[in-house]
Amino acid sequence: MAHEPRDPTGGLDRPVAPDADEHERRLEAALRPRHLDEFVGQQRVRGQLELMLSSARLRERAADHVLLSGPPGLGKTTLAMIVAAEMGAPLRVSSGPAIQHAGDLAAILSSLTEGEVLFLDEIHRMSRPAEEMLYMAMEDFRVDVVVGKGAGATSIPLELPPFTLVGATTRAGLLPGPLRDRFGFTGHLDFYAPQELELVLRRSSALLDVELSGAGYAQIASRSRGTPRIANRLLRRVRDWALVKGIDRVDARAADDALSMYDVDERGFDRLDRAVLEALCRTFGGGPVGLSTLAAAVGEETETIETVAEPFLLREGMIGRTPRGRVATAAAWEHLGLTPPDV
Ligand SMILES: Nc1ncnc2c1ncn2[C@@H]1O[C@H](COP(=O)(O)OP(=O)(O)OP(=O)(O)O)[C@@H](O)[C@H]1O
Ligand SMILES: [Mg+2]
Repeated sequence: MAHEPRDPTGGLDRPVAPDADEHERRLEAALRPRHLDEFVGQQRVRGQLELMLSSARLRERAADHVLLSGPPGLGKTTLAMIVAAEMGAPLRVSSGPAIQHAGDLAAILSSLTEGEVLFLDEIHRMSRPAEEMLYMAMEDFRVDVVVGKGAGATSIPLELPPFTLVGATTRAGLLPGPLRDRFGFTGHLDFYAPQELELVLRRSSALLDVELSGAGYAQIASRSRGTPRIANRLLRRVRDWALVKGIDRVDARAADDALSMYDVDERGFDRLDRAVLEALCRTFGGGPVGLSTLAAAVGEETETIETVAEPFLLREGMIGRTPRGRVATAAAWEHLGLTPPDV
């Protein structure tokens, strides 16, 4: 089993990190939409989920098992909690890494009540024996509990009340087929459009008691990398800035000033991203240049460049990967205010 953290190099102190530490996760709880109609964007997943939950309510049955996949900070945990709230059902929370033995899972499953929602975060990190127990529990609402050891061990079948499993994963590809197949509903969350993030920000600013102009919201949204978690984090920093500076209403200019202070530019690139682009264009004439050479020029670990900076630069079409190394695209030159060389 892979147990390495998602971002082995840290990087959580970046204002635009997609992950959140424990402290931030507690702050996030206050901003979490409780019901489906407060959940912004993700039109398709939201519509499908709404249909499925309404049908379960009409039939007075536990809803089908739900699998939510997608990058960090896009709303998987939020949706899991919404499933329980919409069903008026109690919620039990655990996670793959917390379930290392089948017995851990048996203990949770055997204490579920009828209709309860069991949220298993990072479900791809569960141990194999637990996973196999989960197959049977999901399909037949039954588990075999093994009592005793060695030759004297017996397995006792145990009936479970109907429950709804909500699994979340950032790595859907790591889930074994048989587990994936047992979910009645699979929702993949994608990055948000800037207009959707503006709606997230409007809702959050009311809760954080900070006032912005329309253009102020747009400034933050465009720097948030399609991710509500980052939008909410930048909003908190803008709120702090406005409070200290005694600004009542944050307009585009003020938002820009605040976020520049945190080194987040108008496309959501931070200092590390820009250092990579600068090295690629200025030092290496646009490439191609090997990853380790690029990393040395920036003064970072190869791994940091590859896992922390590169994914977003690739997504934004700033750099390309070729067999001979990394190259800058025309967009990268333009972003730095440079003229690309003639080729
Ligand atoms: N559609 C949305 N509307 C409003 N707020 C949202 C939405 N999606 C996410 N958020 C907010 O973004 C923050 C992060 O969301 P959440 O914790 O659900 O992400 P996640 O997908 O579970 O991330 P991770 O993979 O790191 O666990 C929360 O504060 C949440 O309220
Ligand atoms: Mg989560």
